[in-house]
Amino acid sequence: MKKDFISITDLTISEISSVFSQTVDVKKNKKKYAKSLLGKTIALIFQKPSLRTRVSFEVGVKQLGGSAVYLGREDVNLGVRESISDVAKTLSRYVDGIVARTFDHKYVLDLARYATVPVINGLSDLLHPCQALADIFTIQEKIKQIKGTVFAYVGDGNNVCNSLLHICAKLGINVNVASPMGYSPQDDILAQSRKIAGETGAKINIFFDASSAVKDADVIYTDVWTSMGQEQEREKRIEIFKDFQINKNLVSLAKKDCLVMHCLPAHRGEEITEEVIESKNSVIFDQAENRLHAQKAIMIKLLGEKR
Ligand code: CP
Ligand code: NVA
Repeated sequence: MKKDFISITDLTISEISSVFSQTVDVKKNKKKYAKSLLGKTIALIFQKPSLRTRVSFEVGVKQLGGSAVYLGREDVNLGVRESISDVAKTLSRYVDGIVARTFDHKYVLDLARYATVPVINGLSDLLHPCQALADIFTIQEKIKQIKGTVFAYVGDGNNVCNSLLHICAKLGINVNVASPMGYSPQDDILAQSRKIAGETGAKINIFFDASSAVKDADVIYTDVWTSMGQEQEREKRIEIFKDFQINKNLVSLAKKDCLVMHCLPAHRGEEITEEVIESKNSVIFDQAENRLHAQKAIMIKLLGEKR
């Protein structure tokens, strides 16, 4: 049976832990995996722009001995030129796996439903599981014992935040989310994460001010205030989110050696200052690098030869 990676909730705690161990090995012993996807082709269907996801998947597939075919918005025009089910069924006859970046989360679910090859979510409006996996792997590299640490997410309760909630809940990491009123993560994601947290002991708290959320935190994380597809709300959001910027003052409320994280792309001077991105607390480019390693581990798990 094929396995998809659409949400962090598709993985058990022990699968996440084995993907992390695989990530460590893939990162350390690049050559060992040079044939893991030999002869395999992965299609990347992207409805939205991307730097990290596209490049890290294309490079990752190549480093594993496979090849990638990039299909941008103008190539496929998902759901417009032809139905998602026809795209999924057709691609399954040519390729061994599909990475999809979509607007509507239903598109990536439908691709997974109709494709006979594994589908990986490379970001939808609802979730960004590859990001969350690489992020928590990055934290684990820096803070060996992650269970019980305090992870403060400041900003929009968006796709990245949703997947981070899922993975923190699974791994017993306490999460404080601070957003302006009306921009907290959506209720169903919160309920789902709290249910998982109930089993692992993680605590999830929602705040409407940034200072309370970051107090004594081990990690401070933010993302853009305006995600792809929301560009017409940009001016309004800049005003609404202005007290949720990660700046030197906010960072000073967290633990002294706290990690500062951002999935990128960043708008310097909006959700985070230049000074904080470049500070010694920032592990932002380590996160970006770990996208490559973590996704290679996921591809080996879903698409590699069973030995
Ligand atoms: N963080 C991330 O997914 O970046 P891209 O949008 O550039 O892929
Ligand atoms: N929340 C952002 C993440 C980009 C990687 C967006 O969806 O645009």
